[in-house]
Amino acid sequence: MLKRIAVADLRLGMHVHELCGSWMDHPFWKTRFDLSSERDLQRLRDSGVSELWIDTDKGRDLEAGLASQSVAEVRAQAEARLLAAEAPALVRRVALDEEIGRAQKLCGAAKAAVVAMFNDARMGLAIDTGHVGELVEEIAASVARHPNALISLARLKTSDEYTYMHSVAVCALMIALARRLELDAPLVREAGVAGLLHDIGKMAIPPQVLNKPGKLTDGEFAAVREHPEAGGRILLDSKQVSALVLDVCLHHHEKIDGSGYPHHLAGEQISLFAKMAAVCDVYDAITSDRPYKKGWDPAESIRKMAEWCAGHFDEAVFQAFVKSVGIYPTGSLVRLESGRLGVVLEQHDRSLLAPQVKVFFSARSKMPIPQEVVDLEKQAGRDRIVGRESAEQWGFRHLERLWLNVEPARGSYFG
Ligand SMILES: [Fe+2]
Ligand SMILES: [Fe+2]
Repeated sequence: MLKRIAVADLRLGMHVHELCGSWMDHPFWKTRFDLSSERDLQRLRDSGVSELWIDTDKGRDLEAGLASQSVAEVRAQAEARLLAAEAPALVRRVALDEEIGRAQKLCGAAKAAVVAMFNDARMGLAIDTGHVGELVEEIAASVARHPNALISLARLKTSDEYTYMHSVAVCALMIALARRLELDAPLVREAGVAGLLHDIGKMAIPPQVLNKPGKLTDGEFAAVREHPEAGGRILLDSKQVSALVLDVCLHHHEKIDGSGYPHHLAGEQISLFAKMAAVCDVYDAITSDRPYKKGWDPAESIRKMAEWCAGHFDEAVFQAFVKSVGIYPTGSLVRLESGRLGVVLEQHDRSLLAPQVKVFFSARSKMPIPQEVVDLEKQAGRDRIVGRESAEQWGFRHLERLWLNVEPARGSYFG
């Protein structure tokens, strides 16, 4: 049986099934293993993960009297947390199709600008804040036209451009979240600047560690965890960024329960903007492909984050985040009650539970079906989303082409 327990209650002889947190938070290559060494037990206690799943059929059980949760309990809590975020989608001025083209060009330009900016930082040169401001204005304008176009595109990064496109993605996510929280326009822009620069400290990490195509050693992992403070030094030296941006750079890896780093801040010790960055950062990290790990589906990522939310994120900020990207974000693979599989296109104006979906496959016959755009709001009572699916498990590739509206260059979506 699977049980979710606190890392503090972990004992040798238990079988670890899954760690509750982003894979950026721990140095383990595998997350399923028999816990047989003191060293691994200590590594788990020292990692940024405070809860995990154990399988009591494969290893030692939890001591009597200690608290644990079942799969059903955790799932139900996560679903309830997501349902509580049900809301009208953020206002769009143009359709997704219309913004995608513009957002694609902007992504290219933004990446080039971030590469140049980060290289300057690596060489000890001051950050060109004028350039940062212009870039953030353009990203904010795209998010204002359509809150999900740039965000969804920036997720589709290759692993070698990860650090740069991650900065662009977190910038756009911060702007959408700040708008959802109805912050004033200058603060929305500051949130964007903070998103763009939050990981600038990664420029202090040797490139062979930063771009290593495998899991990190304990030493390398510790070096990566120094990036918030390294970033803080870079920003302080440049003397041109606000206290808010500096705070986000230093504290975007802090967690509500105090298990984050570098300062182990907890609860209200963490600022609103650092709490926002924590959510945006994890979402983009777990939905992106890395050299050693395929990114998770966006809807599944949102569900996982809802499971981790209690110790990891601020509840109200997480809820606002879900309201800004959707319960089933653009690009998610979902199963409908009719047995059809589809990719989410647009969020619906009135309900995040009934987005527009492009159906393309029958889960029952396991065969492709004619593609059709289904507006689930109009289908109320006839069809609805009943689950999230993994493209990797179905063997679907290039699902983005379904919502980007381009045909695959060769082959199909299915092989
Ligand atoms: Fe970071
Ligand atoms: Fe980050």
